[in-house]
Amino acid sequence: MDITFLLNGESVELRDVPATATLLDWLRDTRGLTGTKEGCNEGDCGACTVMVQDEDGARALNACILFMPQINGKSVRTVEGISGPDGQLHPVQQAMIDQHGSQCGFCTPGFITSMATAHINGDSDHATALAGNLCRCTGYAPILRAAEAAGEQPVPDWLSDFDLAELPAAAMAGDQPLTGAAVRPETIIELARWYEAHPDATLIAGATDVGLWVTKQLRDLGPVAFLNRCRDLQRIEETDTRVTLGAGVTIARLIPLMDRLHPSFGAMLRRYGSAQVRGAATIGGNIANGSPIGDGPPALIALGATLHLRRGGDRREIPLENFFLDYGKQDRHPGEFVEAVSFAKAPDRLKCYKLSKRFDQDISAVCGCFDIAVEDGVATEVRIAFGGMAGIPKRAAHVEAALVGRPWNADTIKAADDAWTRDFTPMSDMRASARYRLDAARNMLTRYFMESQGLATSVKEVRA
Ligand SMILES: Cc1cc2nc3c(=O)[nH]c(=O)nc-3n(C[C@H](O)[C@H](O)[C@H](O)COP(=O)(O)OP(=O)(O)OC[C@H]3O[C@@H](n4cnc5c(N)ncnc54)[C@H](O)[C@@H]3O)c2cc1C
Ligand code: FES
Ligand code: FES
Repeated sequence: MDITFLLNGESVELRDVPATATLLDWLRDTRGLTGTKEGCNEGDCGACTVMVQDEDGARALNACILFMPQINGKSVRTVEGISGPDGQLHPVQQAMIDQHGSQCGFCTPGFITSMATAHINGDSDHATALAGNLCRCTGYAPILRAAEAAGEQPVPDWLSDFDLAELPAAAMAGDQPLTGAAVRPETIIELARWYEAHPDATLIAGATDVGLWVTKQLRDLGPVAFLNRCRDLQRIEETDTRVTLGAGVTIARLIPLMDRLHPSFGAMLRRYGSAQVRGAATIGGNIANGSPIGDGPPALIALGATLHLRRGGDRREIPLENFFLDYGKQDRHPGEFVEAVSFAKAPDRLKCYKLSKRFDQDISAVCGCFDIAVEDGVATEVRIAFGGMAGIPKRAAHVEAALVGRPWNADTIKAADDAWTRDFTPMSDMRASARYRLDAARNMLTRYFMESQGLATSVKEVRA
């Protein structure tokens, strides 16, 4: 594929780049920019963090699971481009020196690019911004102190004056023919036509799953379509009664929306991967991958969401929960893709409880989402959905039946105890035992009940 982008302020034009070449490999092996490190090569450690800027602003992304075509038409800054053209230090670099925030330095470049990205965005939640950068020797306190101290300094000129207009028009315009083994459609209609004709192709949205198929499983993907150029797939539409999320909406963009509509979902999404993962991962990818431990589907199922699927010109809508048929099996026909997911606006009753071994940057062991309406002391509508309890994201149908129409009190919660084993036969794995998962699910309902009564619970929902 032909790719044009800005690298540390300078225009780069490349021809015939393999579609699944990663930015990290290209930076280090071809360009010799070895400040960007390879740690895990699977999005977990942040040693490869780069700053990517486009019309939507600046994001920190993991270069190890970022394919070269995904950066077409964007500006990329590596750690080498965070300092000024004459070697001036960026405020976060100076603060890291002043606060003794670096020892071995393997993690430091990634920290610097994450910190510079948070700095340019005026983001003062440093612990959340840096949760995707792991350091094994300095300890986080001096690093967080450095981020805090740098926050008072202005953004240096050399970072604020990037101009995508400097790129050749070809990088920005939709003039790439949809031919060959790798395409990047500009519209949903183009995508629909191409995918109908190439149903065996792999769709690549944020590549936070697909990237690992290449870097860890060494898979040859065959024909691929990159979705990140489809602006119409990235729309968030909100009316008085309904919200529709295009499949290409990133988790990062979902957070402010959910903070307003369903704050518990917003809080859970802040613990979804890391800033680097949330800036790339899409809600469409999170649903389409069919993972039993994805965090988006249980919350959306509890909200009664509808999935919008499309094949060519044909569209169909199904309840999201019906999409997940069995482990690794979804109700999706060849050539069909996720166009959007929508849900009705309703009073906020949603609570999302994510249980993982680490607070940040960890996949759920159990993720329980509850939406229960109570009128005159009786549970009138109950929707409960779980991740991590079965081979698919799944509703707790028997537990719901044990609650609906009954008085909303501790006796009813207790009486529902037996229903859990009729809904779920969870597995034991490295994240949790089956017994723990069932106990945790029961406890989550108790917690929801206590919170609905205004009773304190001791579990932390946000970082202390
Ligand atoms: C370090 C790390 C941490 C993570 N933490 C979490 C976490 O806390 N919670 C969580 O839920 N997930 C987590 N994930 C998993 C991952 O981020 C999500 O599953 C993500 O939402 C996938 O979205 P994507 O856009 O990156 O999808 P991609 O990787 O691009 O695609 C994933 C799958 O969906 C298909 N696909 C993508 N878009 C469409 C579409 N529109 N229509 C049809 N098929 C499509 C692809 O072909 C592929 O099969 C993590 C991943 C990493 C690497
Ligand atoms: S090398 Fe670890 S996140 Fe990229
Ligand atoms: S200073 Fe970060 S791993 Fe050593």
